[in-house]
Amino acid sequence: MAEDLIVETRSLTKIYRDFWGRKKKTALNALDLKIYRGEIFGLLGPNGSGKTTTIKLLLGLLFPTSGDAFVFGEPAAKVEKNERIGYLPEESYLYRFLNAEETLDFYGRLFNIDPEVRKKRAAELIERVGLANDKKRILKEYSKGMRQRIGLAQALINDPELVILDEPTSGLDPLGTRWMKDLILDLRARGKTVLMCSHRLEDVQDVCDRIAILYNGDLQTLGKVSTLVEDAVRVEVRARGVKESAELRADLEAVFRKHGGTLETIGHPSSTLEELFLRVIEESKARPGRRYLPPEESNAAALPAATARS
Ligand SMILES: Nc1ncnc2c1ncn2[C@@H]1O[C@H](COP(=O)(O)OP(=O)(O)OP(=O)(O)O)[C@@H](O)[C@H]1O
Ligand SMILES: [Mg+2]
Repeated sequence: MAEDLIVETRSLTKIYRDFWGRKKKTALNALDLKIYRGEIFGLLGPNGSGKTTTIKLLLGLLFPTSGDAFVFGEPAAKVEKNERIGYLPEESYLYRFLNAEETLDFYGRLFNIDPEVRKKRAAELIERVGLANDKKRILKEYSKGMRQRIGLAQALINDPELVILDEPTSGLDPLGTRWMKDLILDLRARGKTVLMCSHRLEDVQDVCDRIAILYNGDLQTLGKVSTLVEDAVRVEVRARGVKESAELRADLEAVFRKHGGTLETIGHPSSTLEELFLRVIEESKARPGRRYLPPEESNAAALPAATARS
């Protein structure tokens, strides 16, 4: 069990001091956290709540004021353990005049990876992050989303056991966001552990097993996402093959009354905007020249208020 404990913090505290050594800001206050092998853990909180500070403490880039942090059972200050960690920072720090291949080769050398393995891994990663067609272009020419992709490839070059992602979906379009989320889930499927910070709560809900919410350096809540967001007061029932009608409503009201409850709503469930967006783009790719037409001009029912002109 102890071996499966990847990250542990004990009463971890960071107080930033000013130039004169006077206490300035308690960025993190007595954080107790445990992250286990194979889970996707989300660290949430408003701006300035201590997320990046926590990550930097785990990487040994900052020293705690008090308390302890361990990664793979080793003190966080021991930088050798970072060879088993992949890190995607919030701000890109990659060299703008290297291309994707050169970037990965550069980081592969920093990790002292064998040249053969380095080359093979770089080629695989470029493919995996969808940059095969742009691998010879310098990063200066990359869009924000493309920089995010190469940043992720860089974070994975050492085949890390723990992947730390600070705002992984920031700057990505919905297709890129879906891709990033699938990749994070794929990392878990490969037995990796992921710690991510994000302000995009729907992304966190889609991929994270457990989350912690920080506010002003204090841990506010911690637990399984599914349990935390469960509405234990309501019961959801879905059906197909029936038409909505006054009679159906009356019947359902009677059923729920019999069981001591009340019917709140009845209607058609809506899919998410993400699902709609992905479906529209898929259909656009499949049918070039497709355009939106106002409903009165359209008689195609494939999509709500959209049709093909070919
Ligand atoms: N080098 C520093 N010196 C002084 N105060 C700092 C320093 N770095 C961070 N802080 C302060 O510590 C607090 C936590 O900052 P941190 O960067 O950890 O927040 P965050 O949760 O990552 O926020 P964001 O969502 O904006 O990225 C903030 O009040 C910030 O101003
Ligand atoms: Mg931050």
